Amino acid sequence: MAIWNSRFQKSFDKGALKFSSSIDIDGKLYNEDIEGSKAHVKMLMKQKIISTSDGNAILKALEEIRKEISNGKLNFDWQKEDIHSLIEERLVEKIGERGKRLHTARSRNDQIALDERLFLRKEINIVSKLITDFQKALLKQAQQNKSTIISGYTHLQQAQPILFAHHLIAYISMLQRDKERFNDLMKRVNLSPLGAAALAGTSLPIDRNIVAKNLGMNGIILNSLDAVADRDVLIEFINDCSIVMMHLSRFSEEMILWSSQEFSFAKIDDSFATGSSLMPQKKNPDIAELIRGKVGRVYGSLIGILTIMKSLPLAYNRDMQEDKVHLLEATTTTKDSLLMATELLNNTKFNKNRFEKELDGNLLLSTDLVDYLVRKQVPFRKAHQMVGEIVALCIQRNIKLNQLPIQEYKQFSVKFEEDVFELLTARKSIENKISQGSTSPQEVEKQILFWKKELSNS
Ligand code: ARG
Repeated sequence: MAIWNSRFQKSFDKGALKFSSSIDIDGKLYNEDIEGSKAHVKMLMKQKIISTSDGNAILKALEEIRKEISNGKLNFDWQKEDIHSLIEERLVEKIGERGKRLHTARSRNDQIALDERLFLRKEINIVSKLITDFQKALLKQAQQNKSTIISGYTHLQQAQPILFAHHLIAYISMLQRDKERFNDLMKRVNLSPLGAAALAGTSLPIDRNIVAKNLGMNGIILNSLDAVADRDVLIEFINDCSIVMMHLSRFSEEMILWSSQEFSFAKIDDSFATGSSLMPQKKNPDIAELIRGKVGRVYGSLIGILTIMKSLPLAYNRDMQEDKVHLLEATTTTKDSLLMATELLNNTKFNKNRFEKELDGNLLLSTDLVDYLVRKQVPFRKAHQMVGEIVALCIQRNIKLNQLPIQEYKQFSVKFEEDVFELLTARKSIENKISQGSTSPQEVEKQILFWKKELSNS
């Protein structure tokens, strides 16, 4: 018999109950549900809405139920509909009539809204910590690759030489903003909706602030309809997870490219790579590919929950029960992916000497030639055009920039002198950068020091 059954002549159809049961999903929130119930009961006692002895009996039994669930002794029977009914029914089974006072001045509508906020509060901290761990792995590789030179790309075409450390620090910076988004969200999450009851509040003398304080929350969601009707913080959380996943997908894509034979730059440890059932030579970067692929789950969750909430009239609607499917999917996938990205990076070695020789004298130093002429007062656009012509000539002759004789350089501009060849190494190009935040060794060192300090505090 359901907790709401008395006004009905018939019991709920089995198939319909199975269809509406959510315990396989909201059962994962049992800790939050019990924590919320305990705070509610303490308030009811303090306000003398229920007696101290009834309240204490409920508190004790709730704690026992928590243990029964964590020990696997209390089965998640789908016929109990949801985690709220399951716990309440078990409570009455354990302590009889006294258990029937738990749900005083409460609805499952404000109860689930609270459970979700407690869950988010916990998960925000876990995800933030996992982001920091990944940032630390990136920083460690950056410190080991302070003088490793790679080509920087735009459009995946060689652009200019950069330090690999610089490339890795770009990811650290992106992830820092991800963390800031989660931290900012905490302000909106850590508020209690409890006491909104079904939608209109209650005629019983509750104190909503006591509950909030008891749970370590910063206040209440004031408007009782708003408190039970919205899921915007869930949407925001999944959105923030989606951005993290987008960043991880770019990192994964690069790991896949770097470990290809063509790049031969990243050497993933055998313990994080897979083979082929057919081709004996294969070593595949499956973990990076799976992270890239699992982004689909999280984006799917974001669209899923946005679609559920679209056009719903205020306040609670049963559609909203489906929110947790997406919340849990996005949370699990984001956490697993962050952990795997960290492990993958910690188990990868980069070939420090892979690119430098190849890049020396290479066409990707063209911009250095332009800057050389600009320093000698040639207008930028003119210098750009001249160097473009030099590039065309080198391509035509199939030579590098440092193989074109000085006499020929001079035919493009008398400003070219012997010292131009000093510019034409990848390392010189990097060392010559002087702007703030550039890839020069000094600027990269500054960034490394900054992140070392920043990440040691978190
Ligand atoms: N299982 C429901 C949910 O997660 C509980 C909320 C209230 N249910 C109800 N029928 N009013 O949304």
